[in-house]
Amino acid sequence: MDSMEVPDITLNAMPIGVFDSGLGGLTVARAIARALPNESIYYVGDTKRCPYGIRTMDEVRSFTAQAGRWLEAHAVKIMVIACNTATASALSTVQTMLDVPVIGVIAPGARAAIHSTRSRRVGVLATELTVGSGAYAKAIHALDAGVQVFGCPASSFVEIVERELATGAHVHETWLEHADVFDTPEIRAEVARVVEPLSREEIDTVVLGCTHFPLLAGPIRAALGDRVRVVSSAEETTLELTEILRRRGQLAMDGAVPEHRFATTSDNLAEFAAAGSFIFGQPLKSIEHISLDELDSLTIRAR
Ligand code: DGL
Repeated sequence: MDSMEVPDITLNAMPIGVFDSGLGGLTVARAIARALPNESIYYVGDTKRCPYGIRTMDEVRSFTAQAGRWLEAHAVKIMVIACNTATASALSTVQTMLDVPVIGVIAPGARAAIHSTRSRRVGVLATELTVGSGAYAKAIHALDAGVQVFGCPASSFVEIVERELATGAHVHETWLEHADVFDTPEIRAEVARVVEPLSREEIDTVVLGCTHFPLLAGPIRAALGDRVRVVSSAEETTLELTEILRRRGQLAMDGAVPEHRFATTSDNLAEFAAAGSFIFGQPLKSIEHISLDELDSLTIRAR
């Protein structure tokens, strides 16, 4: 903590709000929980309206703003938009709306790519909406205008992950690293087909610009080969989050007992719990349902 900061015990104990269109953001929540074991987390997954990546930007902006309002009403100290699509569409809108700080995953993902690349040729695998928004190219060029960025829309990867999660076949694998699980010959073939345009661009780094995609890291590595480094924003976002809370004097106290709560628009809490526990890497003990009516009542009220 900076010397002038006096910790506010109440504020420090407040949870970190984490939002995603569904389950993918749990890859980020997992990294946060590992790096910051004293912190409480309040996770919202808009599973019922997932996928966001094939929606319009206006829709995603409105849904993300609703989630921001919901998290603020549930007293979070900071909001992490753990969804690239929502970050690309709504980060500045939600930052303007809320009193608490809001961070996204694209600037951290861009930073991770910049730190990794030597050839300065970087691929971005993301949903149609994220690639189409140009948000990654902008974020990468803000750090290094000389890097060449090759976007590759891969919304079908979200469907693969959601489909595989729905089968439940992975649940006994909870403690394994994700990359080993969704790695079948069929998935490898589909992934190879989608990333094929990137294989021709002589990239040395690919950023997983969708929080679902770390679950397909194995097949993505297999398709792109050993010379391409696969980076994701989860760890880098956690570093940024940690630094913001540290400088604001808002980290949870040592020895604080964290509470991890999960809220979803899914009607099937058992399915969310099973798939979510696998991605989060530990059982989701506290899950609640949020109705779309409740979220719709929190539509954007711009300042
Ligand atoms: N998890 C979202 C992301 O990071 C994508 C999933 C979706 O399309 O809703 O972009």
